[in-house]
Amino acid sequence: MIGRKEFARRRKQLMRMMGKDSIAIVPTSPEQVRNRDVEFPFRADSDFFYLTGFHEPEAVAVLMPGRPHGEYLLFCRERDPHLETWTGRRAGTRGAIEQYDANDAFPIGDIDEILPGLLESCERVFHTMGSRPEFDKRVMDWINRIRQGARMGSRTPDKFFSLEHLLHDMRLYKSRSELRVMRTAARVACSAHRRAMQACRPGMHEYEIEAELVHEFRRAGMVPAYPGIVGGGENGCILHYTENSQPLQDGDLLLIDAGAEYDCYASDITRTFPVNGRFSDAQKTLYKVVLAAQEAAIREVRAGNHWNDPHEAAVRVLTRGLLKLGILKGKLSALIRDEAYRRFYMHRTGHWLGMDVHDVGDYKVGGEWRVLEPGMVLTVEPGLYIPAGSRGVAKKWWNTGIRIEDDVLVTSGDPEVLSAAAPKTVAEIESLMALESEK
Ligand code: GLY
Ligand code: MN
Ligand code: MN
Repeated sequence: MIGRKEFARRRKQLMRMMGKDSIAIVPTSPEQVRNRDVEFPFRADSDFFYLTGFHEPEAVAVLMPGRPHGEYLLFCRERDPHLETWTGRRAGTRGAIEQYDANDAFPIGDIDEILPGLLESCERVFHTMGSRPEFDKRVMDWINRIRQGARMGSRTPDKFFSLEHLLHDMRLYKSRSELRVMRTAARVACSAHRRAMQACRPGMHEYEIEAELVHEFRRAGMVPAYPGIVGGGENGCILHYTENSQPLQDGDLLLIDAGAEYDCYASDITRTFPVNGRFSDAQKTLYKVVLAAQEAAIREVRAGNHWNDPHEAAVRVLTRGLLKLGILKGKLSALIRDEAYRRFYMHRTGHWLGMDVHDVGDYKVGGEWRVLEPGMVLTVEPGLYIPAGSRGVAKKWWNTGIRIEDDVLVTSGDPEVLSAAAPKTVAEIESLMALESEK
């Protein structure tokens, strides 16, 4: 778990960057209706949670560096014994101060009364515009209320900054405790992938394997970081397949992309293995190409390299492999230049990983690919996808969707693979699947 001191340190760091005469307004996520009066499980907004550690809906954090009466204010739901009987415990304004270190806390229902007065004393407003139009409108309403009072001598803030510019750069560099949480999320996700490999038999349905994954997450107190992809055979060629509804066929591969979320930090792992526990020769051949590409890409995850280096390494190995197998024809350099591989490898090799699965942080800085630095975490996930009916491709390669995805930390030395405990060589996978039961 991330401790209270770290949340305080983050707020201090952000406020230092904002400077005096500033205010940051950070709302959490709204609750989302699933159907009629049932809501989706609540998940706090990542930026809000990063600064507060507060996991209740209907809350807004306000940061005002240098404010004499307290720099950190939290608007939240009030205690209500009657409602709490129905919908669960609330910290209330007192809890916001005592348990979450707010200097001051107010009922969320009073925000329209209080915020204009706070804004009035500031020159600069930091707020993330565009992701929540309803909240943006409220911010504008508050500003307009002050404008209307301008004749009475009130001052209107006149400089607006995007908060995410500062905050997302902070989130890109993971602290020691964030890495501890991410290692835990990855460890549990690796157990889930192992469990899936051991449970898998021809004739089972994809959702039965999904249940094994979710079982492993939940018994560790975690939730899926995103809807798991469990795709047998041709379904493995559908990049965002989440129906997970089909029976698994003897002789097919199964692609599982599933990660656990722990304390609002994600893991994101993909493994591909044979439904019956033994790779066919053709499957093994293609699998080894993807694995070699992944290993080459991971080797490029080094401080000082650029964001795109792992991708370029993966593309080189994949294209060379496809050429050698006769799936692509031509000259290696031309096939890479013309992106001929994209027919079989149509996504990129990774993304930042953190509180969000596709985490925040710029990939380019000043028009150049970002330089990798210690503390950044990214996924490395090359794949090859050859659906049935692929024209000009020998039939033995059809129905093959392979992706191998690990979570990798940039260090000052060798890359640290957070998800190394999930088997990925042919021998490791086959020997684990040959065991009746591990426990
Ligand atoms: N699970 C989504 C991704 O791999 O990016
Ligand atoms: Mn990913
Ligand atoms: Mn994934």
